[in-house]
Amino acid sequence: MSHPPYVIDELISAKSIAARIETLAREIHDRFADTDKLVVVGLLRGSFVFIADLVRELDLPVEVDFLEASSYGDGMESSREVRILKDLRGEIGGRDVLVVEDIVDTGFTLSHVLHLLESRSPARIETIALLDKPTRREVDIKATWTGFDIPDEFVVGYGIDYAQRNRNLPYIGKVRFT
Ligand code: IMP
Ligand code: MG
Repeated sequence: MSHPPYVIDELISAKSIAARIETLAREIHDRFADTDKLVVVGLLRGSFVFIADLVRELDLPVEVDFLEASSYGDGMESSREVRILKDLRGEIGGRDVLVVEDIVDTGFTLSHVLHLLESRSPARIETIALLDKPTRREVDIKATWTGFDIPDEFVVGYGIDYAQRNRNLPYIGKVRFT
């Protein structure tokens, strides 16, 4: 699949992301301070950088697990049909769960994943999304914590891809076709 030429304009710097994660980690710590049963669940692949930075700011006993749900394929539009490509390795029944997502866009992915995980009877589930595009929402859902609200732009970097590229950028940038 070939893509038209584009450039990436910085939207959120690496420094701002790090500062925001420190604040979020304090709030998450306060919410889960009473537990030794926390499982942090990263949604692959877009959350891998965020979860790595987030758990290193969390001074709590945590386990880390991953789940992969399909959404965009290689395009720029949500498929609205969410499939589980890779399930958790561990059990979450009776556990406290923090689901870590890169972006909440239409909301289909997060709501589907939450329904699935809730059916396994965790003690509680909270959610954190690095980015939120509130104007794009089609399913009524909001993460417990959000890093940054962003406009309706296609973004890459800090784990997030366009056609599998640009995940390694240390900042969040928006794609601009040239
Ligand atoms: P939703 O199901 O529409 O909420 O889509 C959520 C998923 O779509 C996210 O986990 C991302 O993987 C992907 N996504 C949404 N917006 C963007 C974007 O701007 N750039 C790259 N991926 C995106
Ligand atoms: Mg995703």
